[in-house]
Amino acid sequence: MCGIAGCIGSPDAGKILIDALKRLEYRGYDSAGITLGGKKLHTVKTAGKVAALEAKLLSSGYKGTRGIAHTRWATHGIPSEANAHPHLTEDGTISVVHNGIIENHQQLRAELEKKGHVFRSETDSEVIPHLLEESGESDPLAAALYAFGRLKGSFASAVLFEKYPDQMICACHGSPLVLGLGDGMNLAASDMLALAPYVSRIVVLHDGEAARITANSAELFTISGAKSIQLREEPVPGEARNADKNGYEHFMLKEIMEQPEALEHAFAGRMNGDRGVPTFPEFGLSPRETARISRIVTAACGSSMHAGLTGQYYFEDIAGIAASVEQAAEFRYRNPILEPDTLVLAVSQSGETADTIAAVREAVAKGAYTVGVCNVPDSTIARESDCRIYLHAGPEQSVASTKAFTSQVTTLLLFSLFLGRNRRLSRDDGLALMREAERIPDLVREVLKHADEIRDLARKYAWAEDLFYIGRGCLYPAALEGALKLKEISYVHAEGCHSAELKHGPIALLDEKVPVIALANRIPGQEKMLGNIRECLARNAPVIAVVSGNDTCLDSFGVDLIRVPESSRFTAPVSTVVALQLFAYYFACERGCAIDQPRNLAKSVTVE
Ligand code: M6R
Repeated sequence: MCGIAGCIGSPDAGKILIDALKRLEYRGYDSAGITLGGKKLHTVKTAGKVAALEAKLLSSGYKGTRGIAHTRWATHGIPSEANAHPHLTEDGTISVVHNGIIENHQQLRAELEKKGHVFRSETDSEVIPHLLEESGESDPLAAALYAFGRLKGSFASAVLFEKYPDQMICACHGSPLVLGLGDGMNLAASDMLALAPYVSRIVVLHDGEAARITANSAELFTISGAKSIQLREEPVPGEARNADKNGYEHFMLKEIMEQPEALEHAFAGRMNGDRGVPTFPEFGLSPRETARISRIVTAACGSSMHAGLTGQYYFEDIAGIAASVEQAAEFRYRNPILEPDTLVLAVSQSGETADTIAAVREAVAKGAYTVGVCNVPDSTIARESDCRIYLHAGPEQSVASTKAFTSQVTTLLLFSLFLGRNRRLSRDDGLALMREAERIPDLVREVLKHADEIRDLARKYAWAEDLFYIGRGCLYPAALEGALKLKEISYVHAEGCHSAELKHGPIALLDEKVPVIALANRIPGQEKMLGNIRECLARNAPVIAVVSGNDTCLDSFGVDLIRVPESSRFTAPVSTVVALQLFAYYFACERGCAIDQPRNLAKSVTVE
């Protein structure tokens, strides 16, 4: 995915747009560009990060009262100046930034080239300025409606016309776009985080909508039909204003450290009453329909899939409902069997992951009741699901998911309790589980107190080029998540593995150069894990074990220990993963890696 921003009505649009791009950089950071308009349009582009663009813009001396800007995660064509946005018409009078994938770009490009248009990049996005030129329309909105109406796929886009200095046109379908309304200045961006410091109100564009923005006005239209729509203005949410690093060196560390509060938000408003039933008023099924749910299928990707895998244990153990988890792309292409009583959960921090969106669409088409478990309000998955359960974790900006993951797991735990109480779970068992769940924020606080010890251990092992993470039961997904965290920010090979699976093949890779992180918490299955640790030690693999409280079970093993508080098997995944997040963070810091913007990655994957 990419980040786009637009501004009209500022004496220094360049400054605002560069700042907005820095806030959007989590969405992609391999190249960047900006067009500024005074009388003429001036464009500056560069391969590399926004800081490089800022330097180039400063030395160009260009200023403008309006502009559009882009930070890219390459999909079509390498990260280069030519492929960086904005893309322009040959005469340079129409400039466009785009986020999304234009599926029919080859066909459009061939058609436009036949008509004499000359393309300068390998991108799909470049068809847009040429379509705008080709429209033959004299009104910019009409030209935009023609051009966007020709696109298949997803787009969020902003357009400047040299001939119409008083306006900017925006449109979106399947990619997010938010307008920001200020005082004599209006903005647009992929994420409200980019706008929050400058505006008082926002308008979230829906799929298939376009906007005409001037310095003092904003109008909404449907792309098909040019029908005028009423502006849905809302105040900027407070959390969007709190999007800085708060003194931490990286967003990832800030987000790890703010987990206790983020997790408290996951409980807010859910823990009323003494019946042991968390409240989920947003869940649209009646108690009778809920009791009839025969199966839960979770579709998700990456960390969200690992949260879903943890939820699978909760749904089966606590709610007594058969559950499975599908990589969202598999779900989409495998023609899944969904019975009328199947509940489909789409778990996604961003709510914009292409494969998870497609899974929701597939489930809706097959008549299943769909629940979007999302962090970003009003995201595509939230909007397209039958009901939405929000995490309320606040914006997550580091590419590596931390607080969203623990909030997903906690929310799935509460949801399984809600479903369980609707079925076989007794009031007493429900209450006991609720009391246990309520400890989660404090369990995490306790882990965070030991951050320095975890840092020292991470530094000790930062030489390793291969690591295994092993777990079983509810901690098996935690092992997968721990390994994912390490590999994505440190570029070191890390593999999550069921501890029983190790000797079915992966154990062949163990030797003194391959540390194993073993999740040996005091939960059912611990005895077997101790046996698995012995197997690793017998192959000379150094072992770092996560253990509960003052457990002495590994004292005679001579292994390094990470201590997390005693907790049940249901809450241990959260506290354990927090320890693994810290380990990954400090390991990657020790190796000098770019923590918040790891190479080749972007915060959400809006392509298949
Ligand atoms: O926004 P989503 O939760 O749908 O994103 C899914 C994955 O792309 C995401 O969890 C990814 O694996 C993270 N980089 C993990 O830290």
